[in-house]
Amino acid sequence: MNSKYLNENTVKNVLAANNEISDERDVRTATAPHQKEFPYERDEEGQVTRREFCNFLFLTSSTLFLGAIGFAGKSVYEAQVTPTYSPLKIEGASELQPGTALNFRYPREEDSAILVRASDGNFYAYGQKCTHLSCPVYYDKQSMHLECPCHEGGFDAATGNVLYGPPPRALDKIELEMRGTEVWAIGRKASGSDENNQHGI
Ligand code: FES
Repeated sequence: MNSKYLNENTVKNVLAANNEISDERDVRTATAPHQKEFPYERDEEGQVTRREFCNFLFLTSSTLFLGAIGFAGKSVYEAQVTPTYSPLKIEGASELQPGTALNFRYPREEDSAILVRASDGNFYAYGQKCTHLSCPVYYDKQSMHLECPCHEGGFDAATGNVLYGPPPRALDKIELEMRGTEVWAIGRKASGSDENNQHGI
């Protein structure tokens, strides 16, 4: 039986019933005689489909797994690599009077920082951005705190820790070193690593 004959007869049988609307039962009835000419093994199809699905799952999960390993490895690597900063002499630090502060830029030109000279003569330095919403902090001589004018946040000048207000964490610390009478910035630490320690010189 050629396919043209099959198609014409099948269509006729399906549509023949006096213009009645064809439904699934009509179609199955009309095509039943031809089923054996086009054997269709549902079990095999099921196996192929399951196999394809398993392959798909395996490939997808492998890709995700490898991606997760790569991402985790990158994070571990970055956590272990401490960024290095070039030392920078802080101009004007030697002449700074106790109870005053000056601004400088470190480690990059766009990073504003603040150097405080406490009343005992020690130096402390921090990134100037408040950890709440990045307003610049200033040194308040009376309270001897670093104050944020935007939402009344306050930080301890000797530790950078939050004293009051909305800031969620301490200020970033600038590490200092005395070289003779000069004060140098030699590194920067993100807050959170040693928040209870004083770090002045
Ligand atoms: S930005 Fe400093 S307290 Fe909000």
